[in-house]
Amino acid sequence: MSAVLRPDAPRLAPMTEGDLDAVLAIETAIYPFPWTRGNFLDSLAAGYSCWLFVSDAALLGYAVIMFAVDEAHLLNLSIAREAQRRGHGAQLLAAVEDSAHGHGAQSMLLEVRPSNMAGRALYAKAGYQQVGLRRGYYPAALGREDALVLARKL
Ligand SMILES: CC(C)(COP(=O)(O)OP(=O)(O)OC[C@H]1O[C@@H](n2cnc3c(N)ncnc32)[C@H](O)[C@@H]1OP(=O)(O)O)[C@@H](O)C(=O)NCCC(=O)NCCS
Repeated sequence: MSAVLRPDAPRLAPMTEGDLDAVLAIETAIYPFPWTRGNFLDSLAAGYSCWLFVSDAALLGYAVIMFAVDEAHLLNLSIAREAQRRGHGAQLLAAVEDSAHGHGAQSMLLEVRPSNMAGRALYAKAGYQQVGLRRGYYPAALGREDALVLARKL
């Protein structure tokens, strides 16, 4: 028996410049140090994979991935605050992993703040392991914060 995809199941859709007001409304609400419009414009202009995660009713989140040979680098993965803790982050991560693998990526690499317990738990559950540490990578309320570098084979 074939699985029937619910018509309102969340799905990836390409992000365009016209989506940036809605993306930035989420971004500025969920990060203390959000990406700027310029960061998203640069990602679109550079040809990075910029995805919206949409249901029929709403923009649930988005992700940005950069490709380097056979490795994908997850630069941004975000779920709107009101849509969090419903499995959408895990679904979006799986969807962008599938897409990256379809484009030839053999592994996914990402950075996460040590203080980001939600992100760390999400990635641990998805099978990511620490492969490095970048000192002072992120801005923080008091100076800088390190980044954990995580990776997983696709
Ligand atoms: C991190 C983020 C994407 C998770 O999205 P989400 O839709 O809430 O996550 P899910 O509901 O799919 O949760 C999947 C797993 O992640 C972990 N998790 C998610 N939110 C968590 C939280 N607040 N505290 C602890 N664990 C959490 C849990 O292990 C969860 O599995 P469970 O529900 O079976 O316990 C979301 O919190 C977010 O956008 N945060 C702000 C942006 C961010 O930090 N992005 C990652 C930057 S690297």
